[in-house]
Amino acid sequence: MNKTAFLSRFGPWAMVTGATSGIGREFADQLADMGMNLVLVSRCQDALDGVAASLSKRSGIQTRTIALDLSDPGFLAPLKTAIADIDLGLIVSNAGADHMGALLRIPLPDLQAMQRLNAASHLDMAHGFGTLFMEKRKTAGLIFVSSTASLQATPLLANYAGAKAYVMNLGAALNSELQGTGIHSTVLVPGPTKTPAFTDRTDIDLKTMPMPPMKTRPVVRAALQGVMQNKPIVIPGTLNRVMDWMGRRVLTRGMSAGMWGMLMNKAAPDTLKVKPRV
Ligand SMILES: NC(=O)c1ccc[n+]([C@@H]2O[C@H](COP(=O)([O-])OP(=O)(O)OC[C@H]3O[C@@H](n4cnc5c(N)ncnc54)[C@H](OP(=O)(O)O)[C@@H]3O)[C@@H](O)[C@H]2O)c1
Repeated sequence: MNKTAFLSRFGPWAMVTGATSGIGREFADQLADMGMNLVLVSRCQDALDGVAASLSKRSGIQTRTIALDLSDPGFLAPLKTAIADIDLGLIVSNAGADHMGALLRIPLPDLQAMQRLNAASHLDMAHGFGTLFMEKRKTAGLIFVSSTASLQATPLLANYAGAKAYVMNLGAALNSELQGTGIHSTVLVPGPTKTPAFTDRTDIDLKTMPMPPMKTRPVVRAALQGVMQNKPIVIPGTLNRVMDWMGRRVLTRGMSAGMWGMLMNKAAPDTLKVKPRV
């Protein structure tokens, strides 16, 4: 990718949410390598400070860290205040998490907090920073991180898959609405990816999953190329694209949900499944 063209379109500052781990950390690394100054957001101040110090040392960039819980419905106002003096040109709305298990076994407040993080926070980022870009920038970009779980109903990840489908349709529609404005919008739709959230999980048997996890590097590279080219949706990895094609062209929605239900039920222990009625 042409770094000069990327910097001139999106520089000098980018913001990455969920920047302390996994895919977000990889975004921070690759953007820092291109010379972007970075606003780093997650909940843990110590972890943010550690990432900021290592990026400044490695790439000589400027950083600002902001500790916020993005499942808090009021996060946008303090976030905008904290960056008011910065010329931001790229937002990576990445922070997210899943909660594996049958919907009715998970307490409603937990599901609601997950929905705020995985869906509503992306709406706030899109509106909050989209309007800022329209006011202040000729060119800018928004990247939203969804998931291949969004491509079909996914039993035992029902709330997560629903929220990620929202993110995919939000970002792709925004891409169309923003045509001709100079503001790009791209949704990254990763499949299983080697991050702590995936590789450290103990709730399901990962060996039964059909898709091997990808490394974060090509996943993030595809997203950065995608936003440069203003692609509405980027699905990294051939196998993930084949699964997407099958889901849209070969299987019915019911068949997809049934197939994923079988896979997830095989991987999950009984404690995560619907309790049998006695
Ligand atoms: N890994 C995969 O296989 C995979 C596949 C498809 C999609 N994704 C998506 O990719 C994104 C990144 O996932 P990952 O695998 O890289 O996860 P990860 O390694 O667990 O990193 C998640 C990051 O988000 C931050 N975060 C979590 N909850 C937050 C909250 N409430 N407020 C603010 N920050 C929060 C975490 O920091 P703190 O905990 O310190 O806040 C951390 O920096 C997510 O949206 C995920 O759904 C991942």
